[in-house]
Amino acid sequence: MNEQAEQLASQLAEARADTLRIFDLADEAELQRSPGFGYRPVIWHLAHIGVFEGYWLLQKAQGLPATDDAYERVFDPIHTPREESKNLPTRREMQDYLSRVRDASLGYLAGFDFRDADPLKSGGYVFRLVLEHERQHQETLLYLLQLLDPSKKTRPAGLPPEGDAPEQSLWPDPGLWPPGGMAEVPAGPFRAGAGAGGFAYDNELPSREVFVPAFKIERLLTNNERYEHFVNEGGYERREFWSDEGWAWREREGWAHPLYWRRDGAGWRERRMFGEGELLWYLPVTGVSWYEAEAFARFRGARLPTEAEWEKAASWDESAGAKRRFAWGDDAPSAGLCNYGLRFWGTTPVGSFPQGASPYGCYDMMGNVWEWTSTPFEGYPGFEPFPYPEYSETWFDGDHRVLKGGSWATGASVLRTSFRNFFRRHFRIAFAGIRLAEDA
Ligand code: AVJ
Ligand code: FE
Repeated sequence: MNEQAEQLASQLAEARADTLRIFDLADEAELQRSPGFGYRPVIWHLAHIGVFEGYWLLQKAQGLPATDDAYERVFDPIHTPREESKNLPTRREMQDYLSRVRDASLGYLAGFDFRDADPLKSGGYVFRLVLEHERQHQETLLYLLQLLDPSKKTRPAGLPPEGDAPEQSLWPDPGLWPPGGMAEVPAGPFRAGAGAGGFAYDNELPSREVFVPAFKIERLLTNNERYEHFVNEGGYERREFWSDEGWAWREREGWAHPLYWRRDGAGWRERRMFGEGELLWYLPVTGVSWYEAEAFARFRGARLPTEAEWEKAASWDESAGAKRRFAWGDDAPSAGLCNYGLRFWGTTPVGSFPQGASPYGCYDMMGNVWEWTSTPFEGYPGFEPFPYPEYSETWFDGDHRVLKGGSWATGASVLRTSFRNFFRRHFRIAFAGIRLAEDA
């Protein structure tokens, strides 16, 4: 194998090992159940990851027949039927299927021509597509597992045991708390979308210059203390903060606080992945829908940033007139720069990574929690669906909103300032939070 192929092979192996470790967090009986809210059983994602790999690397790229027709139907990578999937194969059976697909994929990779002119294959795009897909499902799996009662989960080796917030012992020393307040971003152009080099989804392209009027954006994410103030001031009962649609969802689902908060006397406790502890004021609020983020912003007399504002504040180096791939520059993510890739198994205090700050002085733009923007998910001017409309175009429906930046569970390859995540406005289980903006 050539060097590129070797590198992809090890990335595929690493991603798969990480996937299997995630499934080790709960017993098979739990994995075979829906974790709630009508979501599919957790284990569904295991076979789906394999079916997606087979679909692209074996069927689409090479024209081979399906590895297993029954799998192709239940774990359809494109239409992903929403009906309840009952009587799924066992974890063992799924892993056998995954191994068969993987053997064939590696055979394909060994003789792969990276200079193939087909855009699906050129530079190994289709392998990156498969990798990025698996990494994104890992994060979805963590959303689902976060719904599962901590008593039903096994802490991975290496994590400190039991306690209120045991992950704390892993946190970086906050040292001097960074300044809060707002960064002021002057009017001017910046480059929106994916730069040259590296994998990009169709929805990050084509990149273009966008003129952004002057605005202000918070240096820090909204922390639990700020959000608790909103709750205590009747934020969830006062109609004036809510849009009509937001209020309807709040009524229907009985929202009265973020998803993982639980009232405890006069205060609150918060559930994390492996236990419940007191609500820590300095962690970013999470477990909020876009509607809640919008209501909170109105309460504060502020608003959510547009996607362009967020991306400019995160990536534009004004003095260099250049866009950065990450908030701190172009170096690959690492432990001192942000909270990503399950390093801490949860959120970290807002503003913990001064070296990861953006040129405008915004903290936590990468990792920790995804950040809701006000922007409906749409194609950029000149958008072309590639390689399939169901990745992006199907969701240009007016309901989805763009989220930026990544969370503590986002894999390194998914982390970039141009990446566009998208969820429905009432979706609460993502590790998503809030950064406020204002007109200048
Ligand atoms: C981009 C995270 C919203 O999980 O629905 C996974 C990614 N697309 N399989 C999703 C995705 C197809 C997608 N998100
Ligand atoms: Fe998928």
